[in-house]
Amino acid sequence: MTAINVDDVTKIYGEGHTAVRALRDASLELRDNEFLALLGPSGSGKTTLLSVIGGLLAPTSGRVTIGDTALAGMSKKEQTRFRANRVGFVFQGFNLVPFLTARENMTVMGSISDAPRSEIEARADQLLDELGLTDRKNNLPEQLSGGERQRVAIGRALVTDPDLILVDEPTASLDTELGTQVVRLLATEIKTRGKAGIMVTHDLRMVEYTDRTVRILDGELLDEA
Ligand SMILES: Nc1ncnc2c1ncn2[C@@H]1O[C@H](COP(=O)(O)OP(=O)(O)OP(=O)(O)O)[C@@H](O)[C@H]1O
Ligand SMILES: [Mg+2]
Repeated sequence: MTAINVDDVTKIYGEGHTAVRALRDASLELRDNEFLALLGPSGSGKTTLLSVIGGLLAPTSGRVTIGDTALAGMSKKEQTRFRANRVGFVFQGFNLVPFLTARENMTVMGSISDAPRSEIEARADQLLDELGLTDRKNNLPEQLSGGERQRVAIGRALVTDPDLILVDEPTASLDTELGTQVVRLLATEIKTRGKAGIMVTHDLRMVEYTDRTVRILDGELLDEA
């Protein structure tokens, strides 16, 4: 089944002579269980594409469908529910809540999703273990290393068991060994739990854990065999 359908999406920031065309007629299809690597230089539109797919940003034209749901047809409230229940984001800057511990940063997502609390707590402990963070779970973000923060952000994205995983450079702060471990965890989640995922990366070594690579240049998607 088609997990994500991006159809002819253009995104223009601003207007007039300061307008930036961040996406140009971008089309992309992703099936269930597919893990896609998105490669492209800085400023090429990678974060913009993830934001449009995850319903954080409305496209200027074109449409995005997740499963059989068109994002544009949803009310603001429905979009928020959709994001809370079905999308796991790992942002480029992690965006951890500074006054919550590592574990709380992960479980806080449960309070805005419809998943039962006990399920979220159990998943958080399992993910803390898989991400090698169990003995750091009570630390605040400022008491964590960059790589630990990055792993907390990944755990937070997975804790609600979303259908769609959107990760923006998940290995930027990790060494090769940890980076590989984290990307394999993402790949396993996608394969065994019926998800679809897109990972922005600059690290070609991580591409081998994905099914397919798509490149983006100046807002245009170039498919690759
Ligand atoms: N909110 C915004 N307002 C105006 N222009 C923006 C905005 N966000 C991004 N842009 C511009 O849109 C283009 C694409 O940005 P985007 O963040 O998608 O790039 P990226 O591929 O994720 O880059 P990086 O690898 O550096 O994270 C860039 O030229 C950027 O300056
Ligand atoms: Mg970016």
